[in-house]
Amino acid sequence: MINDKIQIIRPDDFHLHVRSGEALKSVVPHTARQFARAIIMPNLATPVTTVDQAQSYRQAVLNAVSEDLDFEPLMTLYLTDKTSAEVIKAAKESSIIHALKLYPAGATTNSEAGVTDINNIYPALEAMQSVSLPLLVHGEVTDPLIDVFDRERVFIETILEPLIQRFPDLKIVMEHITTKEAVEFVTTTSNKVAATITVHHLLMNRNAIFTGGIRPHHYCLPVLKREEHRKALVEAAISGNPKFFLGTDSAPHPQSAKESACGCAGMYTAYNAMELYTEVFETAGALHRLEGFASIYGAKFYDLPQNKETLTLKRESWEIPASLSLGQAKVIPLRAGEKCQWKMINE
Ligand code: DOR
Ligand code: ZN
Repeated sequence: MINDKIQIIRPDDFHLHVRSGEALKSVVPHTARQFARAIIMPNLATPVTTVDQAQSYRQAVLNAVSEDLDFEPLMTLYLTDKTSAEVIKAAKESSIIHALKLYPAGATTNSEAGVTDINNIYPALEAMQSVSLPLLVHGEVTDPLIDVFDRERVFIETILEPLIQRFPDLKIVMEHITTKEAVEFVTTTSNKVAATITVHHLLMNRNAIFTGGIRPHHYCLPVLKREEHRKALVEAAISGNPKFFLGTDSAPHPQSAKESACGCAGMYTAYNAMELYTEVFETAGALHRLEGFASIYGAKFYDLPQNKETLTLKRESWEIPASLSLGQAKVIPLRAGEKCQWKMINE
């Protein structure tokens, strides 16, 4: 049977970057159009490390949402070597903070203030475990001697496995997984551990970084991997296993910062994320599994109520713009100038 229309419970994006200032105002509406809620990453140039900062950041996001839409930003705090148990308690009491993010120092964009040694955050992790606040991990080691394509696998072996042993009741989300080893690990480990999967890692393998020349808009972290890994991610996403759910990791960098001698990591997918995820699920013959992945499993993991509204997509070929405004600058969306086979409609 060919589906030309699909209606699902309104989805949530469990991993999103919206930056700040004018850029934030440009990108938040793209997400709010499709998603009811989003986990907002705290890696601003000045990282979001306190409840007060998260309060004002949350207000800035809400101010960028148009009046006719209901959108809830789910805030996170950025872990540093100094994050105390008191901050964790305040985060829990605030009720606006839904998780804390571990960036190994130097792993990615704005991670300089991140964690230099996992031992330094044991007091924070202890407190998170006891108040039930999830740990979100950028799961890559930063050792320059480790091959870039192996950094996720090595992180699982050397950091994550021992961490889970030590904090068996801590909820953990391995963000933006990219390898079959991560799929295997998340599948077989405790049910306190889940993972988000981006649409770009489902759509592309590492050849996309080098097609006909270097493609800076296809550079992200963790970097795209071989086809066998992409296939494992698709299998996980369509499996119906509630440990795997949607997180775009959409990251708006100005065009000039991407098309540079040292280009930034990140792909901008928020503009048409659901349309692209739908394409992935359809290609895999699993449209019936989209709703669980996009709208149910993540909310359950985070102990959030299921959304009440719906989202409808219909089969329609349309062209993704060549660029979009990002404050005064431009951002190049994934698939710019190319076709998308599904379109969100208001119903
Ligand atoms: O590609 C990425 N971009 N990966 C990350 O981990 C961070 C993100 C960003 O903030 O730009
Ligand atoms: Zn991210």
